[in-house]
Amino acid sequence: VWKDVPKGPEDAILGVTIAYNKDENPKKINLGVGAYRDDNGKPFVLSSVRAAEARIQSEKRPMEYLPVIGDKEFLSNSLKLAFTEDNEFLKNDLIASIQALSGTGACRLGAEFISRFHKSSTGMPLVLMPSPTWANHPGIFRDGGCEVGKYRYYDPDSCGFDLEGCVEDLKSAPVGSVVLLHACAHNPTGVDPTMDQWEVLSETIKRAGLLPFFDMAYQGFTSGSLDIDAGAVRKFVEDGHRVMLAQSFSKNFGLYGHRLGTLSMLTDSDKEKMAIESQLKILARTIWSNPPIQGSRIVNEVFKDNSFYNSWTEEMSRMANRIIDMRKQLSDKLVELKNPRDWSHITRQKGMFCYSGLSPAQVEAMKEQFSVYLISSGRISMAGVTSANVEHLATAMDAVTK
Ligand code: LMR
Repeated sequence: VWKDVPKGPEDAILGVTIAYNKDENPKKINLGVGAYRDDNGKPFVLSSVRAAEARIQSEKRPMEYLPVIGDKEFLSNSLKLAFTEDNEFLKNDLIASIQALSGTGACRLGAEFISRFHKSSTGMPLVLMPSPTWANHPGIFRDGGCEVGKYRYYDPDSCGFDLEGCVEDLKSAPVGSVVLLHACAHNPTGVDPTMDQWEVLSETIKRAGLLPFFDMAYQGFTSGSLDIDAGAVRKFVEDGHRVMLAQSFSKNFGLYGHRLGTLSMLTDSDKEKMAIESQLKILARTIWSNPPIQGSRIVNEVFKDNSFYNSWTEEMSRMANRIIDMRKQLSDKLVELKNPRDWSHITRQKGMFCYSGLSPAQVEAMKEQFSVYLISSGRISMAGVTSANVEHLATAMDAVTK
């Protein structure tokens, strides 16, 4: 029956872990998937999350289905986190929102919604993404029924942001296109616009009649500050955009496997909000029916208890700072090794990833000769770098680039 089913390739990011697991070299390093490790290279569960879990466990709560829209208390916490409690849309109950299966689920639901209700002037729902973008973005939006296009973003010469190219592409985009933006810690490049550059983008997007869709997977995890990392989203809201927003709690709460996220949309009336939520529920019902229960309970407990909340933000910034420190150590080691390349972008880039500039052949050589695993674009997950393996990583990078 299934003889014509071709074997598909492994996922560009998750496939790296599969290859890594088969390697027997004790010095092997997995710098593929973006999942935080502590300085001993171990997955890390935040103490506030453990304490919240214990409290929930002790209460022996039922395990009924959540409503299709999700946990209302969690949604309120999630919106406060992104937009602040003082946000006028939030105060006036004008933000449509639904709990989703982390950032991926939120983006997918957003794609399904756009494909039904937001055509561009080409007559098709069109989503423009930065080039490059997270390897999963094009598939999510395409499978969600949208056409997918690109705008210029990364400038390989400066290893920085190509503001001019980006603005040029957005100006010529069909009216009504959706522009996918990484709120902070751009994945894979680690290159974020400055606030002045966000200002230019906000203006350009407004003038061109485009709709901003933010994917915010790293709030608090990028700079260590929840407010700084939400700066772009909040600025766009202030500037009058009706933003769409996907939030993930995988990184900042370390809730990876709990698949916790939110999709939200700013609206202009109660009627719009109700209509949008009704449609989002119809979409979610056929995909996952109702979202998982435990992650939202954990986040609610952390928000309810001041000591949990303080411990959460403190540990979150510690994680962000460990990554920042690893960037410094890696770049110092490469200088020590007298590698001829300019590696200053390692410390300039932000968030979980370093877009190293290593070619696919060099990535392959790192794997073959040093058992150092990363994705072929040269993206390094800095979260996997530790005081104990940074030397081995620098040696490998030095050897393959000399
Ligand atoms: C990544 O880019 O490595 C993370 O966002 C995890 C994932 O699902 O790809």
